[in-house]
Amino acid sequence: MFVACVAADRAGRRATQSSGKRTILWRDLKCGAIHSDTLSMKTRERNLIVFDWSCHGIPTLPSVAEQLIALASNENASTSELTELISADPGLAVLILKAANSAFYSLNVEVTSIRHAIVLLGLPEVKRIALSAVLAERFLAVPREAKRVAMDLWRHLVATAVLARDLSDEDEEPDPYTLGLLHDMGWLLFLVQHPTSYMSFVQEKSKGLREAENLWGVDHQLLGAKLAEAWGLPEPFQVVALRHHDPLRDMAPPGYLFKVTFANHLSSEIGFRSHAMFDEPLTPQIFDASHLMDGETYEEIRRAAFADRERIEGYCKLFLG
Ligand SMILES: [Fe+2]
Ligand SMILES: [Fe+2]
Repeated sequence: MFVACVAADRAGRRATQSSGKRTILWRDLKCGAIHSDTLSMKTRERNLIVFDWSCHGIPTLPSVAEQLIALASNENASTSELTELISADPGLAVLILKAANSAFYSLNVEVTSIRHAIVLLGLPEVKRIALSAVLAERFLAVPREAKRVAMDLWRHLVATAVLARDLSDEDEEPDPYTLGLLHDMGWLLFLVQHPTSYMSFVQEKSKGLREAENLWGVDHQLLGAKLAEAWGLPEPFQVVALRHHDPLRDMAPPGYLFKVTFANHLSSEIGFRSHAMFDEPLTPQIFDASHLMDGETYEEIRRAAFADRERIEGYCKLFLG
């Protein structure tokens, strides 16, 4: 992939990052610990929002998505297992064939079956497409008036996933694409449970979503981490949801977290920013700690990604119906 090539050209600075150490999870934190300014706000100036964590309140993860994530973490998963799982859902099978035949992959042959797609694209890639398709179907099912905002958010998630994968080696575990795809699920949960509040805020162009977090007493990183845990996703999903804006907060940030942090920035910078999103600057300390790239390499990657944004846009559209 283009980004990996640019990064590899500046080799030497690339390193394998995998700490294996446990990182602080959302449940270790007090809600106010993330934004101290939240605490200083007077209650009367805030309009606190409550989330419903009962089984009826949170969106469920489709069972096929659970199985895909389980398959993704199973090195021994076979082609026939994946083929069987996908073929049981004709709508999903059609989407995968559509993706495999899209310009994004530039295959020079017509892909006519799931097995054929797996042969040409590989098992991990087909799992990524399938998971994206399943999640898109679930999370774009919002009220009509919130559709555009949900689609913007979805574009940001998919672009971040694609860029995180491009920053990584093939078959890397945990899969950076899947981590990128789920990094901002806190915002999606927010949109699903409070579409009117979310919509009214993003329509006020002068305000950013960080301001909304302070006003409403929510934190999309905490929400996302909690959702990942509620879904029983492996720990890296919680770590990424919780720390993608501030990877240095913990003592031993894992390598995959930096990839999602960089991909998150890149996707916003090349035009896949969801409305009113904010990004803290990437500091020299983040580049140093990542052992992945320096600021100069990041700039090169950003230019390459910018030139490639049409292809990424095409891929995002595959899941937008
Ligand atoms: Fe975020
Ligand atoms: Fe993001």
